Amino acid sequence: MIPNKKPIIVIGSSNTDMVIRCSRLPRPGETVLGGSFMMNHGGKGANQAVAAAKLGGDTVFIGKVGDDVFGHQTVEMLTSLGIDTRFLGVSATEPSGVALINVDEHTAENSISVASGANGAIRPADIDAAEEVIASASLILMQLEIPIDTVTYAAKMAKRHGVTVVLNPAPAPSEPLPEELLENVDIIIPNKTEAEVITGIAIDTPQDELRAIRSLHSKGISTVIFTLGSKGALLCQNGDCEEVPSFKVKAVDTTAAGDTFCGALCVGLSEGKEVRPAMIFANQAAAISVTRKGAQQSVPTRAEVDARFPN
Ligand code: RIB
Repeated sequence: MIPNKKPIIVIGSSNTDMVIRCSRLPRPGETVLGGSFMMNHGGKGANQAVAAAKLGGDTVFIGKVGDDVFGHQTVEMLTSLGIDTRFLGVSATEPSGVALINVDEHTAENSISVASGANGAIRPADIDAAEEVIASASLILMQLEIPIDTVTYAAKMAKRHGVTVVLNPAPAPSEPLPEELLENVDIIIPNKTEAEVITGIAIDTPQDELRAIRSLHSKGISTVIFTLGSKGALLCQNGDCEEVPSFKVKAVDTTAAGDTFCGALCVGLSEGKEVRPAMIFANQAAAISVTRKGAQQSVPTRAEVDARFPN
């Protein structure tokens, strides 16, 4: 039991994932035969909310679905996990988000395309509706599968209330992010591609990594968690960097590994952990998730993490 544990607010997308596992990812113009098919609950926002909830966080999800079977199933599933869906709106005009995912069954890597649908209709007014709960939170966690204006608006609102803002800038934006967003972010969790777009620095060497991290600090972000895929992550706080290595496992599907990491990190932080121990917990949860297929169903429960990584 954690005293005074405050809610984690996840603001973002939800999708239904149509997944084909194939012997290799198709090249442009190519058809690859012989895959198996799965339909799963996904979306970076919903995946991160599910991770936060399954790992013990008191979780609120702010998003939008369509008034269709996928949307209704999404609300039902998130609610069944104990996630507060009072601020998960239903669009009267847009369909629920859908993602098409190919997973390479040998490397466990994927390629994803998303039809955003109702995720693109999450507006500042939806954030206003949740202001009271945002003000009461330990932190808000966002990604970039919803309109950037809404992400910026939510970051500014959270900061006004003294609430920590965590941004996972995924998928990589098509252009640099607005300064008024970055200056309201406390913790950013980019991978290499995302950091390159945000900073405009091509990252080919460890020195380039450090330059990109310093550039993010210079925009006002005190904590940068630079993810390194299967190698783990670099934690940089006000210029001091240290590696936090991953746990080695045999990966079968890396979909939502990053989402599991982000959700788990926020659970650790909301329980009062320092960033490094929260990252170790996040690496443990992500390591288990890549040994399983799918997105939200691959996220372990707290009991599963504790059993696999006893302290
Ligand atoms: O991060 C993985 C997620 O990206 C998938 O669940 C898919 O829906 C896309 O949003």
